Amino acid sequence: MLKHNDGAPAPGTPTIMALRTIITYPHPVLRQEAELVTVFGQELKTLVADMAETMYHAPGVGLAANQIGVARQVVVVDRSMAENKRAYITLINPVISAGEGRNTDEEGCLSVVECYAKVERFRKIHVTAQDVEGNPLEFDAEDRYARIIQHEVDHLHGTLFIDRLSLLKRALYKKKLKKILQEQE
Ligand code: NI
Repeated sequence: MLKHNDGAPAPGTPTIMALRTIITYPHPVLRQEAELVTVFGQELKTLVADMAETMYHAPGVGLAANQIGVARQVVVVDRSMAENKRAYITLINPVISAGEGRNTDEEGCLSVVECYAKVERFRKIHVTAQDVEGNPLEFDAEDRYARIIQHEVDHLHGTLFIDRLSLLKRALYKKKLKKILQEQE
């Protein structure tokens, strides 16, 4: 019997993933407030698959949709903790509902070229979100995992990790970036 076609590929059809271009600072899309996701379908799955492909290709450990020019509340975070193995979690509409403790560690960002700096964040967080199917997710995260999630959730609200540095460090980075961009011309 024929099944109703809702536009989704037939079961077993491989998802064709595509690399997307990572947008870099100071592009304005990185400052946009990302919109809530309300439609959970094949288009969202394709976006997530592309984001994961783009993140691992970079390579990076987290990616927010704004970073590929899509201002929607979608992030992917690497969970493999091992090389050459891909395992990631998808967080749709993530909210950090509680945080405790503080720690400081080095961060970088695929959208902020040639910048690594120590950032203070919550050591442990409580997260609510939805998965790619729209099912509710709720969990605690600690240390490195918590740090990546905080960094990615910041992206969804137009915040970059360099905004959390001292004025002096940010000014030095802007100066360095200006020089890098001039050399590329
Ligand atoms: Ni980033």
